[in-house]
Amino acid sequence: MPSTVQQPVVAGLTRAAIFLVATIDPGADHGATVRGLCGDLAGLVRAVGFRDLEGDLSCVMAFGSDAWDRLFGTPKPNDLHPFREIRGRHHAVATPGDILFHIRAVRMDLCFELATQIVSRLGGAASIADEVHGFNYFDDRDLIGFVDGTENPEGQAAVDATIIGEEDTAFAGGSYVIVQKYLHDLARWNTLPVEEQEKIIGRTKLSDIELDDAVKPAFAHNALTTIVEDGQRLEILRDNMAFGDVGKGEFGTYFIGYARSPRRIEQMLTNMFVGNPPGNYDRLLDFSRPVTGTLFFVPSATFLEGVTAEMPAPSNAADINEHRGEDRSRSRLSSSDGSLGIGSLKEGSRT
Ligand code: HEM
Repeated sequence: MPSTVQQPVVAGLTRAAIFLVATIDPGADHGATVRGLCGDLAGLVRAVGFRDLEGDLSCVMAFGSDAWDRLFGTPKPNDLHPFREIRGRHHAVATPGDILFHIRAVRMDLCFELATQIVSRLGGAASIADEVHGFNYFDDRDLIGFVDGTENPEGQAAVDATIIGEEDTAFAGGSYVIVQKYLHDLARWNTLPVEEQEKIIGRTKLSDIELDDAVKPAFAHNALTTIVEDGQRLEILRDNMAFGDVGKGEFGTYFIGYARSPRRIEQMLTNMFVGNPPGNYDRLLDFSRPVTGTLFFVPSATFLEGVTAEMPAPSNAADINEHRGEDRSRSRLSSSDGSLGIGSLKEGSRT
Protein backbone atom coordinates (compact mmCIF):
# COMPACT_ATOMS: atom_id res chain seq x y z
CA MET A 1 0.00 0.00 0.00
CA PRO A 2 1.64 3.28 -1.06
CA SER A 3 1.98 5.99 1.54
CA THR A 4 0.52 9.42 1.04
CA VAL A 5 2.08 12.59 2.41
CA GLN A 6 -0.43 15.02 3.86
CA GLN A 7 -0.41 18.76 3.69
CA PRO A 8 0.24 20.26 7.16
CA VAL A 9 -3.42 20.34 8.22
CA VAL A 10 -2.51 19.04 11.66
CA ALA A 11 0.25 21.59 12.19
CA GLY A 12 0.79 23.12 15.59
CA LEU A 13 -1.03 26.32 16.47
CA THR A 14 1.11 29.36 15.73
CA ARG A 15 1.19 33.00 16.71
CA ALA A 16 0.65 34.37 13.19
CA ALA A 17 -1.32 33.39 10.11
CA ILE A 18 -2.32 34.77 6.73
CA PHE A 19 -5.51 33.56 5.06
CA LEU A 20 -5.57 34.21 1.32
CA VAL A 21 -8.68 33.39 -0.69
CA ALA A 22 -8.15 33.75 -4.43
CA THR A 23 -10.43 33.47 -7.46
CA ILE A 24 -8.98 32.27 -10.75
CA ASP A 25 -9.55 34.73 -13.56
CA PRO A 26 -11.16 33.55 -16.83
CA GLY A 27 -8.73 32.34 -19.49
CA ALA A 28 -7.29 28.96 -20.38
CA ASP A 29 -3.71 29.86 -19.48
CA HIS A 30 -4.65 30.80 -15.96
CA GLY A 31 -5.49 27.22 -15.02
CA ALA A 32 -2.01 26.21 -16.18
CA THR A 33 -0.40 28.92 -14.05
CA VAL A 34 -2.25 27.73 -10.96
CA ARG A 35 -1.39 24.09 -11.67
CA GLY A 36 2.24 25.12 -12.05
CA LEU A 37 2.17 26.67 -8.60
CA CYS A 38 0.68 23.48 -7.09
CA GLY A 39 3.77 21.48 -7.94
CA ASP A 40 6.14 24.24 -6.82
CA LEU A 41 4.46 25.27 -3.56
CA ALA A 42 6.48 22.89 -1.37
CA GLY A 43 9.70 24.35 -2.79
CA LEU A 44 8.53 27.91 -2.05
CA VAL A 45 7.68 26.98 1.54
CA ARG A 46 11.10 25.33 1.94
CA ALA A 47 12.89 28.38 0.52
CA VAL A 48 11.14 30.92 2.75
CA GLY A 49 11.02 28.61 5.78
CA PHE A 50 14.75 27.91 5.62
CA ARG A 51 15.41 31.56 6.49
CA ASP A 52 14.25 30.75 10.04
CA LEU A 53 13.96 27.07 10.79
CA GLU A 54 12.55 27.86 14.24
CA GLY A 55 9.76 29.78 12.55
CA ASP A 56 7.56 26.73 11.84
CA LEU A 57 6.36 28.09 8.50
CA SER A 58 3.69 25.98 6.84
CA CYS A 59 1.12 26.41 4.12
CA VAL A 60 -2.03 24.50 3.24
CA MET A 61 -3.38 24.96 -0.31
CA ALA A 62 -7.02 24.04 -0.91
CA PHE A 63 -9.49 24.25 -3.79
CA GLY A 64 -13.15 25.21 -4.15
CA SER A 65 -15.57 23.00 -6.04
CA ASP A 66 -15.67 24.97 -9.31
CA ALA A 67 -11.91 25.40 -9.32
CA TRP A 68 -11.48 21.66 -8.87
CA ASP A 69 -13.60 21.01 -11.95
CA ARG A 70 -11.61 23.52 -13.94
CA LEU A 71 -8.12 22.52 -12.79
CA PHE A 72 -8.36 18.77 -12.28
CA GLY A 73 -11.71 17.51 -13.66
CA THR A 74 -12.48 13.99 -12.58
CA PRO A 75 -12.26 12.15 -10.31
CA LYS A 76 -13.50 14.65 -7.77
CA PRO A 77 -13.48 14.31 -3.97
CA ASN A 78 -16.79 12.77 -2.91
CA ASP A 79 -18.00 15.61 -0.69
CA LEU A 80 -16.64 18.66 -2.51
CA HIS A 81 -19.38 21.16 -3.34
CA PRO A 82 -19.80 24.93 -3.12
CA PHE A 83 -20.43 26.25 0.40
CA ARG A 84 -24.18 26.21 1.08
CA GLU A 85 -25.47 29.39 2.63
CA ILE A 86 -27.71 28.99 5.66
CA ARG A 87 -30.65 31.25 6.37
CA GLY A 88 -31.93 30.70 9.86
CA ARG A 89 -32.18 33.06 12.79
CA HIS A 90 -28.95 34.44 11.30
CA HIS A 91 -27.43 34.25 7.84
CA ALA A 92 -24.30 32.26 6.95
CA VAL A 93 -23.32 33.79 3.63
CA ALA A 94 -21.60 31.93 0.78
CA THR A 95 -18.84 33.91 -0.93
CA PRO A 96 -16.56 33.21 -3.90
CA GLY A 97 -13.26 31.39 -3.49
CA ASP A 98 -11.29 29.10 -5.80
CA ILE A 99 -8.09 28.67 -3.81
CA LEU A 100 -7.33 29.00 -0.11
CA PHE A 101 -3.81 29.46 1.21
CA HIS A 102 -3.62 28.95 4.97
CA ILE A 103 -0.16 30.20 5.90
CA ARG A 104 1.06 29.76 9.47
CA ALA A 105 4.28 30.61 11.29
CA VAL A 106 5.68 31.77 14.58
CA ARG A 107 6.43 35.14 12.97
CA MET A 108 4.30 37.29 10.67
CA ASP A 109 7.28 38.21 8.47
CA LEU A 110 7.60 34.58 7.35
CA CYS A 111 3.89 34.43 6.53
CA PHE A 112 4.09 37.74 4.72
CA GLU A 113 7.08 36.72 2.63
CA LEU A 114 5.47 33.45 1.59
CA ALA A 115 2.18 35.19 0.75
CA THR A 116 4.13 37.66 -1.38
CA GLN A 117 5.90 34.86 -3.26
CA ILE A 118 2.63 33.00 -3.83
CA VAL A 119 0.78 36.05 -5.14
CA SER A 120 3.72 36.90 -7.38
CA ARG A 121 3.62 33.36 -8.82
CA LEU A 122 -0.12 33.64 -9.41
CA GLY A 123 0.58 36.80 -11.39
CA GLY A 124 -2.45 37.83 -13.42
CA ALA A 125 -3.99 34.35 -13.20
CA ALA A 126 -5.93 34.98 -10.00
CA SER A 127 -7.31 37.82 -7.92
CA ILE A 128 -7.22 37.91 -4.14
CA ALA A 129 -10.85 37.99 -3.02
CA ASP A 130 -10.02 38.17 0.67
CA GLU A 131 -6.82 38.55 2.68
CA VAL A 132 -6.69 38.41 6.47
CA HIS A 133 -3.61 38.76 8.63
CA GLY A 134 -4.42 36.93 11.85
CA PHE A 135 -2.65 37.19 15.16
CA ASN A 136 -2.71 35.27 18.39
CA TYR A 137 -4.28 37.49 21.05
CA PHE A 138 -2.72 37.09 24.50
CA ASP A 139 -3.27 33.57 25.91
CA ASP A 140 -4.97 32.10 22.82
CA ARG A 141 -8.03 34.32 23.23
CA ASP A 142 -10.30 35.66 20.54
CA LEU A 143 -11.26 39.32 20.57
CA ILE A 144 -14.44 38.60 22.54
CA GLY A 145 -12.04 37.68 25.34
CA PHE A 146 -12.47 33.89 25.56
CA VAL A 147 -9.75 31.28 25.17
CA ASP A 148 -10.37 29.72 21.75
CA GLY A 149 -9.19 26.24 20.76
CA THR A 150 -9.21 24.45 24.13
CA GLU A 151 -11.31 21.48 23.07
CA ASN A 152 -9.48 20.85 19.81
CA PRO A 153 -8.54 17.20 19.29
CA GLU A 154 -4.82 16.46 19.61
CA GLY A 155 -2.35 13.94 18.21
CA GLN A 156 -3.95 10.90 16.61
CA ALA A 157 -7.42 12.24 17.48
CA ALA A 158 -6.70 15.32 15.34
CA VAL A 159 -5.64 13.10 12.45
CA ASP A 160 -8.73 10.93 12.84
CA ALA A 161 -10.93 14.05 12.84
CA THR A 162 -9.42 15.64 9.76
CA ILE A 163 -7.71 13.22 7.40
CA ILE A 164 -9.70 11.25 4.83
CA GLY A 165 -9.14 7.50 4.97
CA GLU A 166 -10.89 4.59 3.36
CA GLU A 167 -14.18 6.46 2.83
CA ASP A 168 -12.68 8.03 -0.33
CA THR A 169 -9.56 6.05 -1.20
CA ALA A 170 -8.65 8.11 -4.28
CA PHE A 171 -8.32 11.12 -2.00
CA ALA A 172 -7.00 9.49 1.17
CA GLY A 173 -4.68 11.85 3.02
CA GLY A 174 -6.81 14.84 1.99
CA SER A 175 -9.16 16.95 4.10
CA TYR A 176 -11.96 19.51 3.88
CA VAL A 177 -11.85 23.03 5.25
CA ILE A 178 -14.49 25.71 5.80
CA VAL A 179 -13.55 29.33 6.44
CA GLN A 180 -15.73 32.19 7.65
CA LYS A 181 -14.63 35.69 8.46
CA TYR A 182 -16.64 37.00 11.43
CA LEU A 183 -16.95 40.62 12.54
CA HIS A 184 -17.89 41.26 16.17
CA ASP A 185 -19.98 44.07 17.58
CA LEU A 186 -17.55 44.41 20.45
CA ALA A 187 -19.11 47.54 21.88
CA ARG A 188 -22.40 45.71 22.44
CA TRP A 189 -20.71 42.46 23.50
CA ASN A 190 -18.77 44.30 26.19
CA THR A 191 -21.95 45.69 27.71
CA LEU A 192 -23.08 42.14 28.52
CA PRO A 193 -22.31 40.98 32.06
CA VAL A 194 -19.51 38.38 32.05
CA GLU A 195 -21.92 35.75 33.42
CA GLU A 196 -24.11 36.21 30.33
CA GLN A 197 -21.11 35.96 28.01
CA GLU A 198 -20.05 32.75 29.76
CA LYS A 199 -23.50 31.22 29.19
CA ILE A 200 -23.26 32.09 25.50
CA ILE A 201 -19.85 30.39 25.11
CA GLY A 202 -20.41 27.63 27.69
CA ARG A 203 -17.10 28.22 29.50
CA THR A 204 -15.83 30.60 32.15
CA LYS A 205 -14.09 33.66 30.72
CA LEU A 206 -11.00 34.09 32.90
CA SER A 207 -10.20 30.48 33.79
CA ASP A 208 -11.62 28.82 30.64
CA ILE A 209 -13.40 26.04 32.54
CA GLU A 210 -16.41 24.38 30.92
CA LEU A 211 -19.71 25.27 32.61
CA ASP A 212 -21.40 22.50 34.50
CA ASP A 213 -24.28 20.91 32.59
CA ALA A 214 -26.63 22.08 35.33
CA VAL A 215 -25.96 25.73 34.46
CA LYS A 216 -24.91 25.54 30.79
CA PRO A 217 -27.82 26.65 28.54
CA ALA A 218 -28.86 24.49 25.57
CA PHE A 219 -27.94 27.43 23.32
CA ALA A 220 -24.32 27.59 24.55
CA HIS A 221 -21.82 27.69 21.67
CA ASN A 222 -20.01 24.58 22.86
CA ALA A 223 -23.32 22.71 23.28
CA LEU A 224 -24.50 23.48 19.73
CA THR A 225 -21.13 22.59 18.20
CA THR A 226 -20.92 19.23 19.95
CA ILE A 227 -22.07 16.69 17.37
CA VAL A 228 -22.66 13.08 18.33
CA GLU A 229 -23.53 10.35 15.80
CA ASP A 230 -24.11 6.72 16.75
CA GLY A 231 -22.71 7.47 20.19
CA GLN A 232 -19.51 8.85 18.69
CA ARG A 233 -18.40 12.48 18.88
CA LEU A 234 -17.65 13.97 15.45
CA GLU A 235 -14.78 16.38 15.90
CA ILE A 236 -13.18 19.08 13.78
CA LEU A 237 -9.86 20.91 14.08
CA ARG A 238 -10.02 24.70 14.42
CA ASP A 239 -7.28 27.29 14.20
CA ASN A 240 -9.23 30.55 14.64
CA MET A 241 -7.27 33.77 14.57
CA ALA A 242 -7.99 37.30 15.75
CA PHE A 243 -7.77 40.13 13.25
CA GLY A 244 -8.89 43.70 13.03
CA ASP A 245 -8.50 47.27 11.97
CA VAL A 246 -8.83 49.61 14.90
CA GLY A 247 -9.16 52.70 12.74
CA LYS A 248 -12.24 51.22 11.09
CA GLY A 249 -13.61 49.80 14.34
CA GLU A 250 -13.26 46.30 12.86
CA PHE A 251 -12.75 43.44 15.32
CA GLY A 252 -12.95 39.90 14.04
CA THR A 253 -12.40 36.20 14.37
CA TYR A 254 -11.30 34.25 11.31
CA PHE A 255 -12.92 30.84 11.72
CA ILE A 256 -11.15 27.95 10.03
CA GLY A 257 -12.29 24.38 10.58
CA TYR A 258 -10.77 21.23 9.08
CA ALA A 259 -12.59 17.89 8.97
CA ARG A 260 -12.49 14.61 7.05
CA SER A 261 -16.05 15.37 5.95
CA PRO A 262 -17.66 18.79 5.48
CA ARG A 263 -20.94 17.38 6.78
CA ARG A 264 -19.98 17.62 10.43
CA ILE A 265 -18.97 21.31 10.07
CA GLU A 266 -22.19 21.99 8.14
CA GLN A 267 -24.18 20.35 10.92
CA MET A 268 -22.48 22.59 13.49
CA LEU A 269 -23.29 25.63 11.35
CA THR A 270 -26.94 24.58 11.04
CA ASN A 271 -27.12 24.16 14.81
CA MET A 272 -25.61 27.61 15.27
CA PHE A 273 -27.58 29.55 12.63
CA VAL A 274 -30.94 27.73 12.62
CA GLY A 275 -30.77 26.21 16.08
CA ASN A 276 -31.06 22.75 17.59
CA PRO A 277 -33.96 22.35 17.88
CA PRO A 278 -34.77 25.16 15.41
CA GLY A 279 -34.98 28.42 17.32
CA ASN A 280 -32.41 27.34 19.91
CA TYR A 281 -29.68 29.18 18.00
CA ASP A 282 -26.19 30.35 18.97
CA ARG A 283 -26.45 33.74 20.75
CA LEU A 284 -22.83 34.45 19.79
CA LEU A 285 -24.33 35.26 16.39
CA ASP A 286 -26.32 38.16 17.88
CA PHE A 287 -22.89 39.80 18.28
CA SER A 288 -20.87 38.20 15.46
CA ARG A 289 -21.64 38.31 11.75
CA PRO A 290 -19.95 36.20 9.08
CA VAL A 291 -19.06 38.23 5.99
CA THR A 292 -17.51 35.32 4.07
CA GLY A 293 -18.13 31.57 3.85
CA THR A 294 -16.38 29.08 1.58
CA LEU A 295 -15.71 25.34 1.46
CA PHE A 296 -12.47 23.91 0.06
CA PHE A 297 -10.86 20.52 -0.44
CA VAL A 298 -7.28 20.01 0.72
CA PRO A 299 -5.61 17.38 -1.47
CA SER A 300 -2.67 15.45 -0.08
CA ALA A 301 0.81 16.91 -0.58
CA THR A 302 1.54 13.89 -2.74
CA PHE A 303 -1.29 14.86 -5.08
CA LEU A 304 -0.23 18.50 -5.13
CA GLU A 305 3.38 17.76 -5.94
CA GLY A 306 2.32 15.53 -8.82
CA VAL A 307 0.45 18.35 -10.56
CA THR A 308 2.14 20.06 -13.51
CA ALA A 309 1.11 23.11 -15.51
CA GLU A 310 0.43 21.00 -18.57
CA MET A 311 -1.37 18.09 -17.08
CA PRO A 312 -4.00 17.61 -14.43
CA ALA A 313 -2.80 15.59 -11.45
CA PRO A 314 -2.84 11.81 -11.60
CA SER A 315 -6.14 10.64 -10.20
CA ASN A 316 -4.79 9.15 -7.02
CA ALA A 317 -1.79 8.75 -4.78
CA ALA A 318 -1.09 5.23 -6.00
CA ASP A 319 -0.63 6.48 -9.56
CA ILE A 320 1.69 9.22 -8.38
CA ASN A 321 3.91 6.93 -6.33
CA GLU A 322 4.10 4.44 -9.16
CA HIS A 323 4.89 7.23 -11.56
CA ARG A 324 7.61 8.74 -9.42
CA GLY A 325 8.96 5.61 -7.74
CA GLU A 326 9.86 7.77 -4.82
CA ASP A 327 10.82 6.78 -1.32
CA ARG A 328 9.99 9.89 0.61
CA SER A 329 11.93 10.34 3.77
CA ARG A 330 9.94 13.13 5.31
CA SER A 331 6.75 13.09 7.34
CA ARG A 332 4.07 10.89 5.93
CA LEU A 333 0.69 9.41 6.54
CA SER A 334 0.31 5.78 5.78
CA SER A 335 -3.16 5.55 4.35
CA SER A 336 -3.26 1.93 5.42
CA ASP A 337 -2.84 2.51 9.13
CA GLY A 338 -3.68 6.21 9.39
CA SER A 339 -0.51 6.91 11.36
CA LEU A 340 1.06 10.33 11.22
CA GLY A 341 4.73 11.16 11.39
CA ILE A 342 4.87 14.92 11.31
CA GLY A 343 8.08 15.71 13.12
CA SER A 344 7.20 19.18 14.30
CA LEU A 345 3.74 18.30 15.54
CA LYS A 346 3.05 20.48 18.55
CA GLU A 347 -0.70 20.50 19.06
CA GLY A 348 -2.18 22.61 21.72
CA SER A 349 0.79 24.90 22.18
CA ARG A 350 1.49 27.98 20.19
CA THR A 351 5.13 28.37 19.44
C1 HEM B 1 -17.28 34.14 15.81
C2 HEM B 1 -16.81 32.97 15.56
C3 HEM B 1 -16.42 32.00 16.64
C4 HEM B 1 -15.88 32.24 17.86
C5 HEM B 1 -15.47 33.58 18.44
C6 HEM B 1 -15.75 30.97 18.53
C7 HEM B 1 -15.24 30.81 19.80
C8 HEM B 1 -15.19 29.62 20.48
C9 HEM B 1 -14.76 29.45 21.85
C10 HEM B 1 -14.31 30.60 22.74
C11 HEM B 1 -14.86 28.16 22.17
C12 HEM B 1 -14.55 27.50 23.52
C13 HEM B 1 -13.13 27.04 23.67
C14 HEM B 1 -12.74 25.94 22.74
O1 HEM B 1 -13.02 24.77 23.00
O2 HEM B 1 -12.17 26.25 21.72
C15 HEM B 1 -15.33 27.46 20.99
C16 HEM B 1 -15.52 26.11 20.90
C17 HEM B 1 -15.89 25.47 19.76
N1 HEM B 1 -16.27 26.04 18.58
FE1 HEM B 1 -16.30 28.01 18.16
N2 HEM B 1 -16.20 29.99 17.71
C18 HEM B 1 -16.64 30.57 16.54
C19 HEM B 1 -17.20 29.94 15.45
C20 HEM B 1 -17.33 28.57 15.35
C21 HEM B 1 -17.87 27.91 14.20
C22 HEM B 1 -18.39 28.60 12.94
C23 HEM B 1 -17.79 26.56 14.47
C24 HEM B 1 -18.20 25.37 13.62
C25 HEM B 1 -18.84 25.43 12.51
C26 HEM B 1 -17.23 26.40 15.79
C27 HEM B 1 -16.98 25.19 16.40
C28 HEM B 1 -16.55 25.04 17.69
C29 HEM B 1 -16.33 23.75 18.33
C30 HEM B 1 -16.47 22.38 17.69
C31 HEM B 1 -15.94 24.02 19.65
C32 HEM B 1 -15.59 22.99 20.72
C33 HEM B 1 -16.84 22.55 21.43
C34 HEM B 1 -16.49 21.58 22.55
O3 HEM B 1 -16.15 20.46 22.21
O4 HEM B 1 -16.53 21.97 23.71
N3 HEM B 1 -16.97 27.64 16.29
N4 HEM B 1 -15.52 28.38 19.97
